[in-house]
Amino acid sequence: MLVKDEVLQVLLSRKGECVSGQEIADSLSCSRMAVSKAVSQLQDDGFQISTQKGSGYVLDRADVLSPAVLSALFPIPVYAVRETSSTMIEAKDLLNKGVDAPFAVIAGRQDGGRGRLGRSFFSPEGGVYFSIVIPGRDIPSPDLLTISASLAASRAIERLTGFTTAIKWVNDIYINGRKVVGILTEGIVDMELSGLDKAIVGIGVNLSGNSSDIPYEIRDKMAFMYEEGKSPVTRGELASAITKELFALQGTRFIDEYRAKCFVIGLDVTVIKAGRERNGHAYGLDDNGHLLIEYPGGEKEALSSGEVSIRFR
Ligand code: BTN
Repeated sequence: MLVKDEVLQVLLSRKGECVSGQEIADSLSCSRMAVSKAVSQLQDDGFQISTQKGSGYVLDRADVLSPAVLSALFPIPVYAVRETSSTMIEAKDLLNKGVDAPFAVIAGRQDGGRGRLGRSFFSPEGGVYFSIVIPGRDIPSPDLLTISASLAASRAIERLTGFTTAIKWVNDIYINGRKVVGILTEGIVDMELSGLDKAIVGIGVNLSGNSSDIPYEIRDKMAFMYEEGKSPVTRGELASAITKELFALQGTRFIDEYRAKCFVIGLDVTVIKAGRERNGHAYGLDDNGHLLIEYPGGEKEALSSGEVSIRFR
């Protein structure tokens, strides 16, 4: 292991505490000079380490997508890339290379971020973009996976940031009327077992960024939770908290909690299906996560998430 990585391990294990250069040098059997050089390299990598003259080093913040930081946070193996077209593609590449699920892959930015229904997902630096690959055996109710992912993100965001979130069926998360999280779920089917082999849950959180960079067309729809550099929570902390919540939710009953957060219930909506738009009223959500719609004239329909999107009016 490089001295830099060893110093990082020490500082991570005592985050927020002042650790003397001599103590680190003694524990790693190296010189204080080597510790000082390693700290400079870590600072260049983006770790916020303050040096306190005569007393030592304090790791204040570790918002760096490095294997050492992420593996200490995540409950499953995690891969990180600085930049990619899409973590959905990275996840599939890793599967093709023989990596075993479960695992996650996280990126600092995406230049081809993918959204639902063939849309794109704006993914600049400062956001959290990751895909979690889950084996089918760990998903007792595949139909509810997407719903559980939005609840996982909502719970983790509320716990770590104190914001109140609301969910737009099926899995967009809103804060103060603007979308801050998008989720895309893809299944890989086992043709022989005719069941779900694996699922890839892609989650994008607009954690922090520069509001003036938001493209004009989506400016009134999406928002960053924090302006650039102002997030109290790191990308790794948030992604790992969402991942833990997602695994914890599998096999439990969570539909009532989801229902309570789903702000679409009770609203007049426009249902967009196969290019056709129809106005209706969302009067409920059944236990399978289907949104219940009543159209003018009394016709009723239970919508499943697949190829449908809704707009609230
Ligand atoms: C949507 O809002 O329509 C879904 C957006 C999903 C975005 C995430 S970001 C991580 C993963 N990689 C992608 O390309 N898409 C998902």
